[in-house]
Amino acid sequence: MNKIVLTFIFIFFVFCFSLEAAIHKGQKVFVKECVSCHSGGQTFVVKKTMRDWKKLMEQKGKPLAELHIKNKDAKDSWEYFESSSYEKKTKHLQEFLVEYAKDSGNVPACN
Ligand code: HEC
Repeated sequence: MNKIVLTFIFIFFVFCFSLEAAIHKGQKVFVKECVSCHSGGQTFVVKKTMRDWKKLMEQKGKPLAELHIKNKDAKDSWEYFESSSYEKKTKHLQEFLVEYAKDSGNVPACN
């Protein structure tokens, strides 16, 4: 019985840890690649809902990339949005963006 409880607690911590690690990775991407143009960091992320961000980040972030590639003012970001490093990290970026979206409320159990 005790073993089962301990196993559950262990799984829970591993789950929280990996979730936080993924969000942290996404935050690093955001600070490195987005803040130069979208200053304000979290206040920018908070403007959108979880659904908005999920939509922008679907298909490996295609809608978000296209939105920038179509806009001449975002020219300096084209190289990044067309690179494979963007595609590789969209999963982490999405986790970060959704976590800090307007209506996320965060994950209380993990904080
Ligand atoms: C070189 C500058 C630049 C970089 C880098 C950049 N953006 Fe943008 N972004 C823009 C411009 C310009 C627009 C269009 C004008 C606007 O809506 O502010 C835009 C628009 C957006 C929009 C739509 C705005 C809205 O209110 O609907 C989102 C969301 C967005 N960017 C997210 C990001 C994310 C996430 C990153 C990092 C992966 C990023 N941007 C990197 C310049 C940039």
